[in-house]
Amino acid sequence: MLSLTEYKEVFLAYLQEELKVMEPVNLYHPVTYILELGGKRIRPVLVMLGVSAFQEDVKKALPAAAAVEVFHNFTLLHDDIMDAAPLRRGQLTVHEKWDANTAILSGDVMMILASQFLEKYEGVTYKRLTTLFNRTAIEVCEGQQYDMDFEKREEVSVEEYIEMIRLKTSVLVAAALKMGAVIAGSSEEEAQKIYDFGLNLGIAFQLQDDYLDVYGDAATFGKQVGGDIIENKKTYLYIQALKNVNTEQRAVLLDLYSQNLEENMLKIEKVKAIFNANGIDKLTKVAMRSYTQKAFQVLEEMDIAAERKTLLRKFGENLMVRKV
Ligand code: IPE
Ligand code: IPE
Ligand code: MG
Ligand code: MG
Ligand code: MG
Repeated sequence: MLSLTEYKEVFLAYLQEELKVMEPVNLYHPVTYILELGGKRIRPVLVMLGVSAFQEDVKKALPAAAAVEVFHNFTLLHDDIMDAAPLRRGQLTVHEKWDANTAILSGDVMMILASQFLEKYEGVTYKRLTTLFNRTAIEVCEGQQYDMDFEKREEVSVEEYIEMIRLKTSVLVAAALKMGAVIAGSSEEEAQKIYDFGLNLGIAFQLQDDYLDVYGDAATFGKQVGGDIIENKKTYLYIQALKNVNTEQRAVLLDLYSQNLEENMLKIEKVKAIFNANGIDKLTKVAMRSYTQKAFQVLEEMDIAAERKTLLRKFGENLMVRKV
C-alpha cells in the first residue's frame, strides 16, 4: 500500500506526461501555468484512495484523477475572475497575469480536457463516471451561483450556507472518491458510502477554507488574506458573527458588508476585530471538527479493510490542520 505522499507523486508523474503546451500558445500556456503552480492535489489523491479502498491497482485511477484535477483548476480560473482574486498558490491569477478573456477560454478548454480524460474508460465504467462527473459539474456551477447571489444579500442562514458549500465544494470531493470506487468496480451501495464520507469531509474542508481566508498567514497562504471580506462573502464566519454580535457590532458589520471599497485594509481589520471579540474563529473550528467527525463515522460503517480506513482517516486529519 502506498503512502499519501507516494499517491501524490504517482499522480504528478502522470500529469507531467499528459501536459503539453500546444498551439495556440495563448490558450494552452495558462493551462500548464495553473496546473504547474502546484496545489495540494487533494482531489486526484482522493480518486486514487477511492480505488485503493476496494482494490490494489491504483494506476487505473490516473485518467479520472487527472480529469478531476483539471476540472478543479478550471473552476479556479473562473472563480478567481468572479472573486476578483489577485493571487493563487502564491502567484498571479491567470486573469491578472494574462487577462479575463484568456482565463475564460483557457478555463473552457480545461473543462473539456477534463471530460476527455474520462474517454480512457470503457463500457459501464465510462457511463457511470460520465454520469457522476457531469452531475457534479452542474452542481458546482449551482453552488458558485449561490455564492455570488449571497454576496448581495444581507443575511444568509447557516442551512443555506451549508447547502451552498455542499454544491460549490463538497460534491467534487465526494465525487472524486466515488469515481475511484466506480473504477474499482465496487457496489453502488459502497460507492455511495464513500461519497457520503467525502461530502462531510468536503464541508469541513470549505469551513477551513473560510477560516484560513481570515486567519491564514499571508506569507504562506498563497491567496489574498481577507479576500472574502473584501468581496462581502457570506462565509460561515460572517453568518456566525451576525448571530452572535451585539447590536452595535451588528450595525457595523451590515454597513461594512454593504460596501465595495477601493481601499480595504481598514475594513478587514474592523471585521476581524469583531470576529475575534466574539470567538468566531473557535465556533468555526468547532463546526469543522463536527463535520470531520461525521465523515469518520460514515467511514467506520464501511465494509473495507481496516488499513484502508486508517489511510482515509489520516487524509481527513491532515486536511484539518492544513495552513494552505
Ligand atoms: C480551493 O481548493 C478551492 C476550494 C474549494 C476551497 P484547494 O484548497 O484544494 O486548492 P489547491 O488545489 O490546493 O490550490
Ligand atoms: C471555491 O470557493 C469553490 C470553487 C472554486 C468551485 P472559494 O472561492 O472560497 O475558493 P478559493 O478560496 O478562491 O480557493
Ligand atoms: Mg475564490
Ligand atoms: Mg469563490
Ligand atoms: Mg475561499
